[in-house]
Amino acid sequence: MSYFFILLATVGFPSGSGKDSVDVCSQLNRGIFTLMSSAADPTYETLAAYTNTFHMPFLSPSLPQTNFDRPMQYGISMKPQYLKAIIDIIKYYEWKSIIYLYDSDDGLLKLQHIFELTTDDYNLDVRIVKRIANATDANSFLREVESADPESRKYVVLDCNAENGKTIIVRHVHDIYMGRRNYHFLLTSLAAVALAYDGTKVILDAYSRLLKKKPDIFRNNFRRGEVYNNGTKGIDCRKLPVTPWEHGDKITHYLRKTDIRGITGNISFSDRGYRKNFSIDVMEMTINTDMAKIASWSDITGMELFPPNYKRVKVSSGLENKTYIVTSILEEPYLMYKRAEPGDILEGNDVFEGYCKDLADLIADHLKINYVLRLVNDSAYGGQDPNSPVGWNGMVGELIKKVSVAVSFFKQ
Ligand SMILES: *[C@@H]1O[C@H](CO)[C@@H](O)[C@H](O)[C@H]1NC(C)=O
Ligand SMILES: *[C@@H]1O[C@H](CO)[C@@H](O)[C@H](O)[C@H]1NC(C)=O
Ligand SMILES: *[C@@H]1O[C@H](CO)[C@@H](O)[C@H](O)[C@H]1NC(C)=O
Ligand SMILES: *[C@@H]1O[C@H](CO)[C@@H](O)[C@H](O)[C@H]1NC(C)=O
Ligand SMILES: *[C@@H]1O[C@H](CO)[C@@H](O)[C@H](O)[C@H]1NC(C)=O
Ligand SMILES: *[C@@H]1O[C@H](CO)[C@@H](O)[C@H](O)[C@H]1NC(C)=O
Repeated sequence: MSYFFILLATVGFPSGSGKDSVDVCSQLNRGIFTLMSSAADPTYETLAAYTNTFHMPFLSPSLPQTNFDRPMQYGISMKPQYLKAIIDIIKYYEWKSIIYLYDSDDGLLKLQHIFELTTDDYNLDVRIVKRIANATDANSFLREVESADPESRKYVVLDCNAENGKTIIVRHVHDIYMGRRNYHFLLTSLAAVALAYDGTKVILDAYSRLLKKKPDIFRNNFRRGEVYNNGTKGIDCRKLPVTPWEHGDKITHYLRKTDIRGITGNISFSDRGYRKNFSIDVMEMTINTDMAKIASWSDITGMELFPPNYKRVKVSSGLENKTYIVTSILEEPYLMYKRAEPGDILEGNDVFEGYCKDLADLIADHLKINYVLRLVNDSAYGGQDPNSPVGWNGMVGELIKKVSVAVSFFKQ
């Protein structure tokens, strides 16, 4: 009935074409000082092998979010590790069952990592996992899910690039759910192309700090218009034993000691080369597809909600978990006994149907209360009754006798 989304926005770089790994050797041979890649994760293993072997500092817009077998000893990732933020959001909204849609090679790894991060006392059930090709693909899939199971709530984690994510949600709203109640869309917005800009800034800053400290560090590296490494020309990939980049450790150290302000926030790195002390905006998309910032998440402080007057947040109605008696009266088409389909056994409130039943369901769902629908004992709306202990009979009498809610349409 209602859909909930989390978008894990990935950075808008072209995904790895394999080209970078093929080119590494010739790059090294030209005598580079630091490798900067626009490649996303698929080339990771190859790049890690090269850069670890040759002690080559490597700045990536996005190293893998997840565990990997081969740590990047000389790597720096501009993109923060945000999976912990996703877990916190899921826990905050108490999602117990998710549909996970992803569009990149490492989608399943991330999902696995999400499982690892959820603790034993929080059971997260993944109902459906599917790789999507594009927004159209995602939207038609969601439509299938809906027609197969129109009643339940669906909590969707959309792990795809920011553009696709927004398109999927906007189309979904316009497609099936416009005019229906209870929308709630969540996006985490992570800075996109800005990471590349900040990456350049990080490199410039690190080199200028290094040169300030050791002005002639590179003096022996430039000779006759060529770049030399510890006495030999360039770095020859194919020569054994390998000659690692002589300043690789030092440069990596300076890169990881960055402390500047970028357009993706304050930039500093952990010893393993991942961002630390960063924050992420948690956005909610309203039914009008306006975006509102509802919280901010940081690796140090966790999730911080903005005050409710800024943005609607989850509020307790104070009525949760209580059972209320709802009293009503049989009156077509507002409340009728439901005719059971052959083989069906109707129980509880489901023995009834009609507008009043739907209304009671809606209210109960909204306030998160339980209710028992009962017919008023004397089948009347109620009037003053001298024989009744409370002076009234019918529904009005029930109300006075502290039945919780009376649902009906009073006749004019
Ligand atoms: C989306 O992906 C599907 C499935 O791979 C493909 O058939 C379709 O042509 C794609 N549509 C667009 C607009 O790229
Ligand atoms: C440079 O080469 C010499 C041997 O030629 C070696 O002892 C030294 O460790 C190398 N330096 C670096 C930083 O690799
Ligand atoms: C960045 O650091 C400055 C202080 O150095 C602080 O005032 C600012 O709030 C920080 N920004 C973020 C996004 O954390
Ligand atoms: C986080 O960054 C702020 C400045 O932006 C700094 O004052 C603070 O000490 C940092 N915290 C940690 C734990 O590194
Ligand atoms: C309602 O019940 C659930 C599960 O028993 C519990 O986690 C939650 O805190 C309760 N809410 C209130 C407001 O008591
Ligand atoms: C109707 O009467 C029965 C017993 O006479 C009582 O148990 C029940 O609570 C009454 N209905 C309502 C809605 O109060």
